Amino acid sequence: EKGGHEYFMLKEIEEQPDALANTLRGHFVDGRIVLDEQRVSDQDLRDVDKVFVVACGSAYHSGLVAKYAIEHWTRLPVEVELASEFRYRDPVLDRATLVVAVSQSGETADTLEAIRHARAQKARVLAVCNTNGAQIPRESDAVLYTHAGPEIGVASTKAFLAQIAANYLVGLAIAQARGTKYADEVAREFAELEAMPAAVKQVLSTVDTVRALGRELADSKAVLFLGRHVGYPVALEGALKLKELAYMHAEGFAAGELKHGPIALIEDGLPVVVVMPSPKGRAVLHAKLVSNISEIQARGARTIVIAEEGDETVRPFADELIEVPAVPTLLQPLVSTVPLQVLAAEIARARGYDVDKPRNLAKSVTVE
Ligand code: M6R
Repeated sequence: EKGGHEYFMLKEIEEQPDALANTLRGHFVDGRIVLDEQRVSDQDLRDVDKVFVVACGSAYHSGLVAKYAIEHWTRLPVEVELASEFRYRDPVLDRATLVVAVSQSGETADTLEAIRHARAQKARVLAVCNTNGAQIPRESDAVLYTHAGPEIGVASTKAFLAQIAANYLVGLAIAQARGTKYADEVAREFAELEAMPAAVKQVLSTVDTVRALGRELADSKAVLFLGRHVGYPVALEGALKLKELAYMHAEGFAAGELKHGPIALIEDGLPVVVVMPSPKGRAVLHAKLVSNISEIQARGARTIVIAEEGDETVRPFADELIEVPAVPTLLQPLVSTVPLQVLAAEIARARGYDVDKPRNLAKSVTVE
């Protein structure tokens, strides 16, 4: 059942191209994005004036990624909140608020309570969920299922990538309803998403060097992750994977924050993973990150750089270079997360840990 793999997680990493393709399938019909279940009218969707994404753990990171796309496409304010924080604040919600609840299991207690809190204040709730008929989609006004297939490994991998794709479909559905994207633009964005399974497959074919690097890093005390823009939530996700699987101190930072504190942590030999944006897509951000890498390298960090293939400017500053295919900026998390999953799994295996069942963790957190 592990398909020849030692762990479910390793199989699930390999399944990511299919998880993405299956999640997209059937959601673009006659030139329009369609959800799986919609118990609110198109008018209600058109009238949305604010979006909250609520979720926990990796699902929360998928929301942080989606914020960039949803704001860009819909011109609506999007706030992404940890479900456990959202419900104990006093968020400003009304019937024009759309709360997107992202959950692989659909049973996470914090996320469930967050949507109950939202619905009690008349907000509309849209669930992005990987489990048919789970509690969260049952209590939602609209549902988009991720079709990643059952995820057994406690660390989320294929569900996370599928959540990003599904969140993007939600963004396109709102943009389409509001008319902030023309039909041909929606079609183009969807086509770009459809090209992603092949891009992820390409990344998977090159991860042997990442595995070797993982074995080298097994004795590190800590690893830092840096990113900007959509690379920032990828850095957070890379750090979460490493914490939960390898029990290693890991932290993700927004690269722009480096000088506001984290650079003090840099010391000789400290591995720092940097998620680079495309040199073409975001030239300004790219230049800023190159400057960040040169600064941390000058202070002795061992730089591990995930960059678009052919990005020569970054090469002199990368002690280790992990290349990923060129894809549109908003879609980069779908390729750049994959090496980080592999890295965390390999470090954990080298340390002798069971990557399917990390200590102290449950697959589905049904208590608060
Ligand atoms: O089932 P959910 O998507 O609601 O679960 C949310 C988190 O518990 C989950 O993503 C967790 O952070 C994973 N272990 C991360 O790999």
